[in-house]
Amino acid sequence: MNKLSPSILAADFWNLGQQIESVQKAGAQYLHVDVMDGMFVPSISFGMPVLSSIRKKTDMFLDVHLMVERPERYIQAFAACGADLINFHLEATRDVAGTIGQIRSLGKKVGVTLKPDTPAEAVEPYLDQVDMVLVMTVEPGFGGQKILPSCMDKVSQVRGLIRKKDLDVDVEVDGGVTLENVSSVVDAGASVIVAGSAVFDGDVEKNVETLLGKIKRA
Ligand code: DX5
Ligand code: ZN
Repeated sequence: MNKLSPSILAADFWNLGQQIESVQKAGAQYLHVDVMDGMFVPSISFGMPVLSSIRKKTDMFLDVHLMVERPERYIQAFAACGADLINFHLEATRDVAGTIGQIRSLGKKVGVTLKPDTPAEAVEPYLDQVDMVLVMTVEPGFGGQKILPSCMDKVSQVRGLIRKKDLDVDVEVDGGVTLENVSSVVDAGASVIVAGSAVFDGDVEKNVETLLGKIKRA
């Protein structure tokens, strides 16, 4: 079943708890937690204490997206704070295999992430070691950007590589997903959909329900 992963980067932090309750009540399966270090990406978002607070109050699946230079330094900390899955960028580390191994050894699910300019083939050597490939459809760093149409082909290519190897790996798409384009994102091969502004701008529960209706597939 395809899943929705609302990105709390677009939430109203004054009411974060309430907003998380709303997305869960409306049926979102995952919660996307964007961690930015001001180095790998220009902006700084939030980190371990926020993740811990969320973990204490919800049993939702926490899908952590590390936009952090040398993520291997922080795997242990984010695992301890309650991540269920840790996504890190291929471009951010020289030790992709070691970082995957570290996440696995802590009993967490592993995702590897590709920036818009990184080709699909870059992930091929790791496909049999991961649970998810996260394809960025905007330059990472900020919410509320427009989807880059050039990245849609990459979603299909990654899905094609996974199919060719007959693996059970999710393809997650992150950046610029809207009510209008979400169906084409799923058609391209995405099985987990991140949505920030499309969920948190306006009526949160209604947005989640509408998005879930559109990503549902047999
Ligand atoms: C961007 C983040 C995204 C962002 C998506 O660097 O990784 O998760 O929150 O926001 P929208 O859906 O508004 O593009
Ligand atoms: Zn993200």
